[in-house]
Amino acid sequence: MQVYTTIRELREALEEKRREGKRIGLVPTMGFLHAGHASLLERARRESDTVVLSIFVNPTQFGPNEDLDRYPRDPEGDLRLARDNGVDYVFMPEPSEMYPRPSATGIAVSGITSVLCGASRPGHFDGVALVVSKLFHIVKPHRAYFGMKDAQQVAVITRMVEDLNLDVEIVPCPIVREDSGLALSSRNVYLSDEEKRQALVLSESLSRSPIWLQEAGGDALALQKQIAEHIAKTPLADIDYVQVLTYPDLERPTTAAAAKSAWIIALAVRFGKTRLIDNRLLSLEELALAAPPIPQGTKGV
Ligand code: PAJ
Repeated sequence: MQVYTTIRELREALEEKRREGKRIGLVPTMGFLHAGHASLLERARRESDTVVLSIFVNPTQFGPNEDLDRYPRDPEGDLRLARDNGVDYVFMPEPSEMYPRPSATGIAVSGITSVLCGASRPGHFDGVALVVSKLFHIVKPHRAYFGMKDAQQVAVITRMVEDLNLDVEIVPCPIVREDSGLALSSRNVYLSDEEKRQALVLSESLSRSPIWLQEAGGDALALQKQIAEHIAKTPLADIDYVQVLTYPDLERPTTAAAAKSAWIIALAVRFGKTRLIDNRLLSLEELALAAPPIPQGTKGV
């Protein structure tokens, strides 16, 4: 495994691989790696000849009052996990390598960034789109792997790739959870034991959602209200948003019976100072199950 801190060296190494006809897989991260990141690396390893892991805490996607300065870091642990998962090249640039001066060029994906985390964290997805497109230009991967833990990020990047005709295939990967149900996140280290215990209300609400949707006769807003009320009963939970939207377009859905695309149940909830996100997709099949049955004898009328 080679570790590079400069764009030039990484490009030279990858240029050779590309000349040899190797398929390059990229896993972009901000480090403090856990089993969620490892699952992306495993998938990349299976599907690529050369696996590139980038570790860069990207300043442009953090708001002024966010946790950039205290974002957890563990370069040695990260390199161990990278080695254990068969990574070929690690790219760990300093901020001055990625941004020698403030970027005068920006990338803004509109529409789908006006809701959920895009609404709560203004400018966040502009920073994500900028750094991911820089990484795509530096690495030129055939495929890039992203976790559905950040489902809106997957939607934004997929849309950017489509709009700009970028020559890379985006591979969405399932959310990895602890046995308790808590979605793995680098930010979980901020949680006290009690906050962590109470945070289980997120995955628990998501698991109960298909039943609640059925009880609500397939009504998205009623489901949203049911989830928010359930989470609000948890003393340490401070809700940022609970939203049921279509996925990947992130529009207001009508009813499950009329659904033409999957839905997402997206949650962002603070426990103490830590903001956690989690989500669950409801496929068209699940939505059809939640829709009220057509009364006997009225079918085809
Ligand atoms: P980071 O939060 O480090 O996450 C890197 C990748 O790991 C993302 O695609 C994220 O969705 C995925 N991931 C995190 N937790 C996961 C889990 N529990 N299960 C499955 N996948 C998980 O997301 C970012 O970094 C940054 O925004 C980045 C894309 C690197 C741009 O700076």
